[in-house]
Amino acid sequence: MQNREIAIKVTLDTQDYNIFIGFGTLKDLGDRIKDLSGKGVVISNPTIISLYGEKISKSLSEAGIDFRILSIPEGEEYKSLESASRLYDDLTEFQMQRSDFILALGGGVIGDLSGFVAATYMRGVPFIQVPTSLLAQVDSSVGGKVAVNHRMGKNLIGSFYQPRFVQIDIDTLKTLPESEFRAGMAEVVKCGFLIGKDFLSYLEMNLEDIMMLNPDTLTEVIEQCCRFKARTVEADERDFGVRAILNYGHSFGHAIEAASEYKHILHGEAISVGMVGAALIAKELGWIDQALVDRHVRLLQHVGLPIKMEGLNMNMILSRLALDKKGARGAAKFVLLRAPGRPEIVEVSHQMIERVLPNLI
Ligand SMILES: NC(=O)c1ccc[n+]([C@@H]2O[C@H](COP(=O)([O-])OP(=O)(O)OC[C@H]3O[C@@H](n4cnc5c(N)ncnc54)[C@H](O)[C@@H]3O)[C@@H](O)[C@H]2O)c1
Ligand SMILES: [Zn+2]
Repeated sequence: MQNREIAIKVTLDTQDYNIFIGFGTLKDLGDRIKDLSGKGVVISNPTIISLYGEKISKSLSEAGIDFRILSIPEGEEYKSLESASRLYDDLTEFQMQRSDFILALGGGVIGDLSGFVAATYMRGVPFIQVPTSLLAQVDSSVGGKVAVNHRMGKNLIGSFYQPRFVQIDIDTLKTLPESEFRAGMAEVVKCGFLIGKDFLSYLEMNLEDIMMLNPDTLTEVIEQCCRFKARTVEADERDFGVRAILNYGHSFGHAIEAASEYKHILHGEAISVGMVGAALIAKELGWIDQALVDRHVRLLQHVGLPIKMEGLNMNMILSRLALDKKGARGAAKFVLLRAPGRPEIVEVSHQMIERVLPNLI
């Protein structure tokens, strides 16, 4: 098990690349990169550098690569144009050329920011994703969306820019804070409901092993999620159609994040509540039965995720969903299930949203 490395090929119009999934594979990065380029930078944050900087440095040095490690302070607020600008300064100072690489070592914040810089510095340099959070390993490192935040909105300034490869070292999850692991599990549970009944049952039956970071089950879970995301992105790279199914739980989820002003809740916690909301709407519409709603609640609760979030302002949630507060008019886009593995994108009426919301807040 320990030496097996899985490769998932992502085939796109612009570029093909592999997602490598394995254990203890940070040490192999140098060998993999040296065929690509002899020079580049690793972008990370102080926590991750203190944990993995030495291992990465050793691997790159031994492969004869000329590199620097660039550190961005920790936190979503540093996924900004200011951070990008600081990084451009560092890249020019290091005399980075168009064939030199940028490697993102970290969670989704580092991945999105580094990818944005890689896409724009000299109109694009080779980009490598080494995701270290569960969310980044099953979601943000796959699919090529790169961005920074703007005061008017999250991920407002961005692009599509595919990496040369993604290297997932599952070992790095051992140091991930438990709350972050649980939040990442919300995206895994989302994949369970989107992929279908077999994977959903697998998650239900193996949840304890997953939470204990059992290598075999974790590999299976990350592989399934990456394969599913890769297939979905292949079908709709630029997010004009089917890729939107990946937003299961995210309509309410994003609105809840905005209503809480992003303060004390993690993205995964918000979409956990959002998936319960989507299930309740599907039940109200007669698409699914109570048993499937209960499966959402049970699985999310077993992971340790919230199924409601008390104290949030209903009007803020409605306005974030772009609904008219007074007239009860309008509709918002939701991903709803007909069954596990059968998502559909539909408009849901204001009345229906108002009916379901009190169960969530
Ligand atoms: N590009 C996409 O398609 C996409 C998809 C989903 C989310 N995102 C973005 O991803 C970001 C969230 O990513 P995230 O949940 O990974 O958050 P994050 O990057 O902030 O990481 C969470 C925390 O865990 C720490 N951490 C990460 N790996 C660690 C490890 N192995 N050991 C110890 N600590 C570790 C980080 O330093 C951070 O404090 C958001 O900005 C979101 O917009 C992007
Ligand atoms: Zn998400």
